[in-house]
Amino acid sequence: MRYTLAFDVYGTLINTEAVLTSIEKLVGNVIAAPFMDTWRDKQLEYSFRRGLMDAYTDFSVCTSNALDYACIKFNTNLSPDQREMLLNEYKTLPAFSDVTKGLEALKSAGHRLFAFSNGSKASVTTLLTTANILHYFEDVVSVEHVKMFKPSPIVYNYLLKTTTSEKSKTYLISSNNFDVIGATVFGMHSVWVKRSKEAIFDPWGVEPTIVIPKITDLAKKL
Ligand code: LAC
Repeated sequence: MRYTLAFDVYGTLINTEAVLTSIEKLVGNVIAAPFMDTWRDKQLEYSFRRGLMDAYTDFSVCTSNALDYACIKFNTNLSPDQREMLLNEYKTLPAFSDVTKGLEALKSAGHRLFAFSNGSKASVTTLLTTANILHYFEDVVSVEHVKMFKPSPIVYNYLLKTTTSEKSKTYLISSNNFDVIGATVFGMHSVWVKRSKEAIFDPWGVEPTIVIPKITDLAKKL
């Protein structure tokens, strides 16, 4: 069977932790990792809260607000240039090492590939172009069109509409629990990319259809 495969971007295809080296240089090794985790956690929390408040904004605003929160929390005074440098780096992060080979195999098997993200179409297109993987995708589907964030059912519904795909023929592929659970509860198939042994899946009694450690493991499971 040939499926529609919708790939989450940040943390699934693109390695958001690649900013760690720059953060280490700016804030020191001791707080760099918790600083980075706070930045990412707050970015997502802000998107969830904005969804609930019906106060959509570009995802990049969640990213920059969250960076400011991390600076306050860790008492770090970044200069405007340093702040800008980190935010710019977030626009050109690399793909994980398994991604190109994994996408290649899925595309060759005849599946339809889409990037599906909270990020704007422009920023995701830039990210995927820089990572040299844009050509694998039929399109970049951004939540900006419906002005709502994952895991609202509105965005999964929009994905189906815009790809003209049916729930039973569509997989959401993500390393983010909230995205996998959102898509599964919506009624799509789902793949959890368990990128580390320590990663925990939320114990909600909602299970992904498939669990893989790397994108390269997906083609043989479909
Ligand atoms: C995305 C974030 C949520 O790309 O990972 O949608």
